[in-house]
Amino acid sequence: MIGYGNQGRSQSLNLRDSGLQVTVGCREDEYAARAREDGFEVLAPVEAAAAGEVILILIPDEVQPGVFEASVAPGLVQGDALVFASGYNIAFDLVHPPSFVDILMVAPRMIGQAVRSCFLEGEGYPCFVACEQDASGHAWETALAVALAIGATRGGAVEATFLEEALIDLFAEQFLWAGIVRLFRTYYDVLTAAGCSPETVATDMYLSGEMVEIARAMRETGFFKQMELHSQTSQYGQLSRGDRVIGPQVRQVALEILDEIRSGKFAEEWTREQAEGKPHLARLKQGAFAHPLNRVEERLKRTAEGESP
Ligand code: NAI
Repeated sequence: MIGYGNQGRSQSLNLRDSGLQVTVGCREDEYAARAREDGFEVLAPVEAAAAGEVILILIPDEVQPGVFEASVAPGLVQGDALVFASGYNIAFDLVHPPSFVDILMVAPRMIGQAVRSCFLEGEGYPCFVACEQDASGHAWETALAVALAIGATRGGAVEATFLEEALIDLFAEQFLWAGIVRLFRTYYDVLTAAGCSPETVATDMYLSGEMVEIARAMRETGFFKQMELHSQTSQYGQLSRGDRVIGPQVRQVALEILDEIRSGKFAEEWTREQAEGKPHLARLKQGAFAHPLNRVEERLKRTAEGESP
């Protein structure tokens, strides 16, 4: 196991509970200390990768190309399998494994912490599985065995490709979530400018937790069918105004964003941004954290903790 963070820790514990022998490869940081506390043998990544037969690469996507070249590639031998939890680096040609290893993906559709809690509670969560290179002749068996041992087959191992996973993941982040966050910001800005108090708007928008319940109902009842849980006034409002909120030009933007991802343009931009020390990311985050909502949250938190507002 290369990496002991969000996914690495949960997957290591699940694999061990499934009867597999796991050695953790981690640089000497707080993650390595955690792995030792959890009872794993921790080696330098270069030693763990050389010792391993099925090597899971669970470090952030952006550091994988460097770590792979320096610490994983030197120890690979014929018959080894590399398992990624995301399609990014293979899809965009940023990591180049040799021709004699299996290149696999087992990508949980679940945050790291819940990969462990679902496993412990016997609940399922799905994953995407892919095989980019079958050098051993039994690569698919290895991928499915890893999916089984981390508890992901209980929710369904769905066959995909590295590119498909990368497209779905990045497009969700860059279109769906980018759009949702923007809509929420506009909702807040328009209502507070119209005289509604920031506290009432923020409470209605997300602090109440209603949004979480709606997401749960979408999953359990149905994406559209959950609408029956809302009043008829709400149903009419949602259905009659949606096309005006998201007009045809949004589809054009969606296609442009998807094209930037598929062509590798986004990956190039992000690689350059990292090489330059992430100045745009810092500026964008500074802008987000300067939004008045951050101050409303702090005020409400202080009030909830008993201080005067
Ligand atoms: P993470 O950020 O939690 O990884 C931390 C680990 O990476 C630690 O062991 C740390 O020592 C190591 N690390 C960080 N920088 C390093 C460097 N420069 N050199 C060497 N080691 C370094 O990563 P996370 O979020 O678990 O992601 C791992 C993989 O899982 C990625 O491919 C990600 O796309 C995928 N994934 C993550 C999900 C999540 O919920 N976070 C969900 C599904 C897939």
